[in-house]
Amino acid sequence: MISVYNKTTTGTFSHDVIKGLSAPQKYLDSKYFYDAAGDVLFQQIMQCHEYYLTNCEMEILATQSAAIAAAFDKFAGEYDVVELGAGDATKSQHLLKQLLDNGKDYTYFPIDISSNVIRQLENNLPGILPGLQLKGLNGEYFEMLQQANDYTSKNKILLFMGSNIGNFTVTAARNFCQQLRSYMQPGDLLLAGFDLKKHPQVILSAYNDSAGITRAFNLNLLKRINRELHADFKLSAFEHFPVYDPATGACKSYLVSLENQVVHIDGKAFTFREHETLYMEISQKYTLEETEQLAAQSGFKPVACFMDSKKWFADCLWKCI
Ligand code: AVJ
Repeated sequence: MISVYNKTTTGTFSHDVIKGLSAPQKYLDSKYFYDAAGDVLFQQIMQCHEYYLTNCEMEILATQSAAIAAAFDKFAGEYDVVELGAGDATKSQHLLKQLLDNGKDYTYFPIDISSNVIRQLENNLPGILPGLQLKGLNGEYFEMLQQANDYTSKNKILLFMGSNIGNFTVTAARNFCQQLRSYMQPGDLLLAGFDLKKHPQVILSAYNDSAGITRAFNLNLLKRINRELHADFKLSAFEHFPVYDPATGACKSYLVSLENQVVHIDGKAFTFREHETLYMEISQKYTLEETEQLAAQSGFKPVACFMDSKKWFADCLWKCI
């Protein structure tokens, strides 16, 4: 199953890369950041003092898990927990522990695009949370969500934390939430993490850390393309360039080509002009009102909202309507 799946993604990976590099505005899909090295770099980003998102959401989960669990019980009966983009689950662990302490009988289905992440969760989490029933699902969100639905017909609490939704444009986020809703049933809940609009410099610095980890994180995707698709990106000829537009809330990362150059992938040549940009990632920021609009536009009703003490980050609880 795993090897079949990986075969498909390799095909998709080269297809997506070639498609993105053939567009007038060259782009890559940020979901491909997360190979083994990318996972490690993202862990390091989360340790950077500029990258406030993790600490804010950690504070919410560490101090408000009892309230979140109480809200689950208020709006749902028996349920299993599905997490989209589980990562190392350090944040959701607080919540999972709270549910265990409350005597809830549930299965935790972490979904992640990274096979390393799923393997590590399956190896480590049962030791940390004794009694936890866990079934890891390695793959794309919707395919794995379908698998979770096939495993059990219980109601689901979907966790989509860490501002992973920020990797969509506002329009794409709406489509995504509508599609998510189509995999859910009345009585299901969604807990979604949103990074909130705040001082623009705070946001920009989070994507331009002084240690250069985010830079390495972006360049690592070029490295991955070199290795897996036999390409010849010269990493030193690209510069990490993040921008933040406070009006739209879009934080975007680009790599700027520092010279006229040609990159070869699979026998195909891609020309970069000096100063031409390669669009790598969006990390969209929201106001609370904008999160409520998004809920309403995609078939959900916001029922609770949990924020850190600085009000920089929100975990919003939505009910299917
Ligand atoms: C994992 C999507 C939440 O956008 O903040 C961190 C990824 N990119 N630094 C984010 C990321 C650069 C992160 N998310």
